[in-house]
Amino acid sequence: MKITVVGAGAVGASCAEYIALKDFASEVVLLDIKEGFAEGKAMDLMQTASLNGFDTKITGVTGDYSQTAGSHVAVITSGIPRKPGMTREELIGINAGIVKDVATQLVAHSPEVILIVVSNPMDTMTYLAHKSLGLPKHRIIGMGGALDSARFKYRLAEALGAPISDVDGMVIGGHSDTGMVPLIRLATRNSMPVHSFLGQAQLDDIVEQTKVGGATLTKLLGTSAWYAPGAAVSSMVQAIACDQKKVFPCSVMLDGQYGFEDICLGVPVVIGKNGIEQIIEIELSPEEKDKMKDSAEGVRSVNDLLQL
Ligand code: LAC
Repeated sequence: MKITVVGAGAVGASCAEYIALKDFASEVVLLDIKEGFAEGKAMDLMQTASLNGFDTKITGVTGDYSQTAGSHVAVITSGIPRKPGMTREELIGINAGIVKDVATQLVAHSPEVILIVVSNPMDTMTYLAHKSLGLPKHRIIGMGGALDSARFKYRLAEALGAPISDVDGMVIGGHSDTGMVPLIRLATRNSMPVHSFLGQAQLDDIVEQTKVGGATLTKLLGTSAWYAPGAAVSSMVQAIACDQKKVFPCSVMLDGQYGFEDICLGVPVVIGKNGIEQIIEIELSPEEKDKMKDSAEGVRSVNDLLQL
């Protein structure tokens, strides 16, 4: 099983590293446009193989898409990350052209590839990939909800004083500071609703901290985060590669589900060998439905900036 990761920056390299550590792929091709950069990252990562005990072969290439031919899954992390104070939406001008070009080249060399889009503004970049490639809907998936849900669980566990493995929760909606919809009503501690343990003020705070999870890190790090984004993508890649049928909230092209169409927005989906195998429609409360509507409006206003 061959996996390509485009962009050897922090997110792309973390993603390649986690894929290798999980040792389910035979080969990871890391591609970047900066001369020698992906080759360097790949060599450095390969020198961890004997220490960390993986056999996945990581190869770095500079801009040569022919080396990605025959990839089963390709991850697009290319483009610029945000700086402190920037929104993900502000990146659209530069990233749209890059993502379109990368996606087109990937499909030209791997016609059956399943694409995972990570570049921001992610929901709009996923929409752009759909509109410009015209691939079957189940083969283009945006990574946002898997990361946002991991951040939600981190905040829940912290407030509960519980181990993360006892906590479950999901974030749907757009991958933006205002668009995320953490489903606090459905979050659990070992199957018990978290509102049995936490007061309203604490629950509200968890929701707010989750929504600005990426921005908080951008402020601390001076650039966008990479470990959790890399781990989230690698989990999605593994679900495809190992046909796990795992549920992740992902940004997918909606066709009437949740009352939306012609938009990519985060909703729960089953991920397996075919990419998106099922879009799950859960019953939302009236308040959650309103939040999803606002989230969709936000994503649409960014989509409107695309020159399709
Ligand atoms: C974040 C970026 C990857 O949320 O969007 O950290």
